Amino acid sequence: MKMGTNIVWHESKVTKADRQNRNRHKSAVLWFTGLSGSGKSTLTVALEKELFERGIHTYRLDGDNIRHGLNKDLGFSPEDRTENIRRIGEVAKLMVDAGLITLTAFISPYQNDRNYVRSLLEENEFIEVYVKCSLEICEKRDPKGLYKKARKGEIKQFTGIDAPYEEPVQPELIVDTEHQSLDKSVRQVIQYLIDKEYIPK
Ligand code: ADX
Repeated sequence: MKMGTNIVWHESKVTKADRQNRNRHKSAVLWFTGLSGSGKSTLTVALEKELFERGIHTYRLDGDNIRHGLNKDLGFSPEDRTENIRRIGEVAKLMVDAGLITLTAFISPYQNDRNYVRSLLEENEFIEVYVKCSLEICEKRDPKGLYKKARKGEIKQFTGIDAPYEEPVQPELIVDTEHQSLDKSVRQVIQYLIDKEYIPK
């Protein structure tokens, strides 16, 4: 079956711009990418709270959560990861349309997949944030004990061990969680959003 046949786009009478005007801030996706254990979830949880307290309309999408529901049919083969990111990209796009500062925390190991999500959005709506932390430190942290399992061969195709992670080529932001505190990382991202006029001061 060819998808998209006999389907017609139906415009809303409330636009993204209307929502942004009412919210008094722009909407965009902050796309956090990095190794497992690099701090994506911790950082996005803290950021969501900070943004909320500033009166910003925000929502967080997280790999471990989404894989319990929307994407529970997907595993970790390259094809499934691509599909995982494609779906999240579409969901994030809807959230941007709804006027939200959307925070996503997925390993999203492939540059092509991240570029694809960027291509779904308008310019300035996709902010790629590289949550930078060496494999060595991620493995030392091992918050879920998964690196240990991967080293023993109990998990296959684990990112950084026997599956690749492609570092972002030109991310808008690099957050170095190996060398700076959580608080500093939160302030770094908030400052970026203020400087680029996504949110008010
Ligand atoms: S992604 O590669 O498709 O973007 P995603 O962020 O959704 O991954 O899920 C990653 C989370 O799934 C990890 O934090 C980890 O808890 C868990 N996980 C289970 N198996 C793997 C694996 N083989 N590789 C990476 N993460 C895995």
